Amino acid sequence: GQVTYIENCGTVHETDIANGQSLLDGALSLGISSMPGACGGDAVCATCHCIVDDEWSDKLNDMSEDEFFMLQSMDNQQANSRLACQIRMKDNLDGMIVVVADN
Ligand code: FES
Repeated sequence: GQVTYIENCGTVHETDIANGQSLLDGALSLGISSMPGACGGDAVCATCHCIVDDEWSDKLNDMSEDEFFMLQSMDNQQANSRLACQIRMKDNLDGMIVVVADN
């Protein structure tokens, strides 16, 4: 499915990721420097923090406790904050848009 990543500097990246791949996988394949995924996708670094556009935020898989508490610890947490490494592509997320949060 298609994903659009918008960086805080305004740069827009688009890619297609297979179902089951994470949004972090897509960001890494694009080399998005503001989403380095420092912990490798284990929900313990929050360098993949992103804000999911309203249209898709309700369709995401539920948060694990680890993801919830990691986001709680972020000063810049917003209502639609998620960790990109914990979001898996599926059919109804095709076309989704996320803003990459500053770390
Ligand atoms: Fe570390 Fe997502 S890559 S929390």
